[in-house]
Amino acid sequence: MKMQRLKTIIHFIEKNSIVADIGTDHGVVPIYLIEENIAKKVIATDISKPSLEKLENKLQEKAGSLNIETRCSDGLKQILPFEVDTIIISGMGGVLIEEILSHSIETAKTASTLILQPNNAVDHLRRWLLYNGFYIENEKDLFENRKYYTILCVKRGLDKPYTETEYKFGRRLIENQSIVLKKYLIHLKDEKSSILTELNSIGSSSASERINELQKDINEINEVIEAYDS
Ligand SMILES: C[S@@+](CC[C@H](N)C(=O)[O-])C[C@H]1O[C@@H](n2cnc3c(N)ncnc32)[C@H](O)[C@@H]1O
Repeated sequence: MKMQRLKTIIHFIEKNSIVADIGTDHGVVPIYLIEENIAKKVIATDISKPSLEKLENKLQEKAGSLNIETRCSDGLKQILPFEVDTIIISGMGGVLIEEILSHSIETAKTASTLILQPNNAVDHLRRWLLYNGFYIENEKDLFENRKYYTILCVKRGLDKPYTETEYKFGRRLIENQSIVLKKYLIHLKDEKSSILTELNSIGSSSASERINELQKDINEINEVIEAYDS
């Protein structure tokens, strides 16, 4: 397994579990989970028939020897409540992941673990999870191809209310003083600081709202960075 993002997702899967991989596309994760004897069975779904066919062709080459079932499905609609232990939804926008979970909330709630990797709107997804009785047990983050990714390991349960900063950057990543998060924050701060310098040099009054916003963001980022031990 070359891709660090997919490797990190796999790291969260419990041995002998029954897994649904939603939006599987090329099916790399299901094949790895079965070939390495991590999962007992995988149901691999995709909304697009041509996407699912990429995996189906690979399964045919392996003469049906892998315990992987494919289903063409919009989100979790073709997965029954209690049918799987673990649901993976990765490589999609955070709003789409939220929609998939909320449209099939019974199935989402009866899985013991959700492994979610949103490509954007992570704060939105964290907020939705907390408001809907899910608990973010752990998070891992990484850079791949110059992009920052976070992967959430989610269970049923309650947590203390999050601060706005925790929704944005992840309570577990902040608590664990993730080195990757620190790198990301420094990068974000540099980006915002250079926009701020540019706007300040223009000196236009119409930019004042944006300037205040940027300064607030930079202060928030500084607070997280300064809380690191070193
Ligand atoms: C960028 S690929 C991600 C593939 C893989 N999960 C990964 O993390 O690398 C997104 C896949 O999600 C599928 N998809 C998009 N919306 C979906 C939905 N509502 N239900 C199921 N699959 C969906 C797309 O067809 C596509 O194959």
